[in-house]
Amino acid sequence: MPEPLVLGIETSCDETGVALVRGDTLLFDAVASSMDEHARYGGIIPEVASRAHLEAMTPTIRRALSEADVDLSEVDAVAVTAGPGLVGPLTIGASAAKALSIGLGKPLYGINHVIGHAAVNQLVDGPFTERSMALVVSGGHSSLLLVDDIATDVTELGSTLDDAAGEAFDKVGRLLGLPYPGGPHIDRLAREGDPEAIRFPRGLTARKDQARHAYDFSFSGLKTAVARWVESCQDAGKEVPVADVAASFAAAVADVLTAKTIAACRAHDVDTLIIGGGFSANSQLRDMAAERCAEAGIDLRIPPIRYCTDNGAMIAALGSAVVRAGLPPSDLDIAVDSSMPLTTITV
Ligand code: KG4
Ligand code: ZN
Repeated sequence: MPEPLVLGIETSCDETGVALVRGDTLLFDAVASSMDEHARYGGIIPEVASRAHLEAMTPTIRRALSEADVDLSEVDAVAVTAGPGLVGPLTIGASAAKALSIGLGKPLYGINHVIGHAAVNQLVDGPFTERSMALVVSGGHSSLLLVDDIATDVTELGSTLDDAAGEAFDKVGRLLGLPYPGGPHIDRLAREGDPEAIRFPRGLTARKDQARHAYDFSFSGLKTAVARWVESCQDAGKEVPVADVAASFAAAVADVLTAKTIAACRAHDVDTLIIGGGFSANSQLRDMAAERCAEAGIDLRIPPIRYCTDNGAMIAALGSAVVRAGLPPSDLDIAVDSSMPLTTITV
């Protein structure tokens, strides 16, 4: 019997993602983004995103089906992001998924978005055959996960206590006068600067933080340190060395993320590291992770960037794993949960 065909829907933020996955094979992944509509506001406007999801949903489903050369009647299960994310956007995706589930008479699976960011790796680099570590970093999340079984056994070792990594980049981008989202601009500038020019703080790395926050992150102190440094430079009438600030800031973020992640791999005897989430596009993180993983003998898996940003494939991938694990489907009256905990893989 062929493996089940899962349709995945993602709408937790500004991307409307619809994908079809059979087993660990991606048939097609269609994404529509409303980012252009948010850029001028300097942040995602939930109501604008919700309306964009509503408009994009049916065309994106149709495009995914036609590109995958699949008829809707062939779909065996519908997976949808149930959280975490923005309530309005999540509700549009969940409503569409419930309608499909009822219309097709096929089971519905409400999926955890953050765990989806790790699960999508299986479509690219193959099944997780042993215990792995996953670092999920984006504009909304920075989480370190110990993955024993992606469908049934994921443990959150740590997360950010304040800003997510991408969020910190966007805030520093704003204070350096860069367009929103600032992350990619800082990345580009940082490549021209000296990462050792300024020694910015590494949050939660002091000895006193080891006991409670060994695998947690904090980037708000770093962001404040950058703001103070830039201000004092301006107050002294000096030109801000933007590339050096960007490089030193990016190095501080990459240093903490990789050092804590590799320490966690060592402590849990794990030699496969998956990095996912939109921030894994960051070249300072990629370079440092590649270097440090090679030194530590850790196999590093980072999928191409289109699978790191929000997409339907990640939800279909985790949905497919959950279906194959034989877990019960979700009730049709499930709610969405903007702060869905990482203890919940499927609702
Ligand atoms: O996963 P994603 O598309 O959306 C969320 O779920 O948040 O991640 C977008 C985040 C933004 O904060 C963006 O500035 C950041 O990832 N980002 C980057 C880079 N590319 C995207 N940050 C630093 N360097 C990059 N190259
Ligand atoms: Zn995400």
